[in-house]
Amino acid sequence: MAVASQFSTADAWRPAPEHNLVGNHPAIVKLRALIQRVAATDTTVLITGESGSGKEIVAREIHALSPRAMRNFVPVNCAAIPNELMESEMFGHQRGAFTGAALPRHGLFSLADRGTIFLDEISEMPLQLQAKLLRVLEDGFVRAVGSDRAVRVDARVIAATNSDLMSAVKKGKFREDLFYRLQVVPVVVPPLRERRSDIPLLVDFFLERNRERLGGSWSFTREAMVQMWSYDWPGNVRELENMVERLVILSDEPVIDVALLPENITSGRCSLAEKHMEAEIGESGVDLNALVRELEGRMINEALKMAGGNKQAAARLLGLKRTTFSAKLRRCGVIASANEGDKA
Ligand SMILES: Nc1ncnc2c1ncn2[C@@H]1O[C@H](COP(=O)(O)OP(=O)(O)OP(=O)(O)O)[C@@H](O)[C@H]1O
Ligand SMILES: [Mg+2]
Repeated sequence: MAVASQFSTADAWRPAPEHNLVGNHPAIVKLRALIQRVAATDTTVLITGESGSGKEIVAREIHALSPRAMRNFVPVNCAAIPNELMESEMFGHQRGAFTGAALPRHGLFSLADRGTIFLDEISEMPLQLQAKLLRVLEDGFVRAVGSDRAVRVDARVIAATNSDLMSAVKKGKFREDLFYRLQVVPVVVPPLRERRSDIPLLVDFFLERNRERLGGSWSFTREAMVQMWSYDWPGNVRELENMVERLVILSDEPVIDVALLPENITSGRCSLAEKHMEAEIGESGVDLNALVRELEGRMINEALKMAGGNKQAAARLLGLKRTTFSAKLRRCGVIASANEGDKA
């Protein structure tokens, strides 16, 4: 009789946690459309993105929207399984296949049959196993350790990494053929600092989740929100989620003010403009002055909106002195609903 794997299978039986991809930044709207498109297929997907950016949530969405949704989603953290056990974890083993293999065991691939296997931190997979994975991807058969019989398994493979797999390929640490086989459809999850306009939405989402869990009601002051907008979030959405939870627990008041924010957030410098420089020079060149004016206008508008019309806060968001900001505001002719509490 087969027994369950000791490592990652628990997650497969659990109902999927909240897998709503929150956000309406254009990059997320595009990502959602891509998710929908690949969900309908059985194609192998490679998800890349910084730590905490939402790779697993994307993988779960692909599964949940796919015809495989009623079957298992099996997450496998390749970095958490000892190398010598990984093959048996993935493909199973026969009784007596190695010392300690007293019972036969199904592998995670079998558990994901007609469902999805999520190979997280794929860059950590040992080279020898990469060769075996490639074979499975190619012919759809898995062979348990110690068995000479290959069994057909229909598992959809989604892999993820936060490291640069191509450079691992160049260093000989990752097989080039597997890299191309995995990234039939590459899915890139952008870091949070490249979609700052989603921060208020995500904060509300996490506040709501805490409200449901803890039974209180919280909000952030506008100033606190401005600081959170300016911060670069190296730990991405996970860092934001954890911070919201921490503040909710630590705050005596329902309204969380800037004073409660951790120092690394309040001392973070804003680099909004540089993060929005995505312009490319086309074949016919580019009107740099017009482009800079347009970018300036857009940033000023966005900062004012974010700061609720407070010019001082908006200026801080853009790393400008209040006087410089006002001069730019006049020049750009931005019509802002600046409030009166922004003298200084
Ligand atoms: N767009 C989003 N909407 C709601 N929650 C999100 C979003 N993105 C990420 N999260 C939440 O942030 C946390 C981190 O997300 P996830 O585990 O998917 O990131 P990851 O890229 O897999 O991170 P790591 O590289 O560290 O494994 C999770 O709790 C997830 O629910
Ligand atoms: Mg992850």
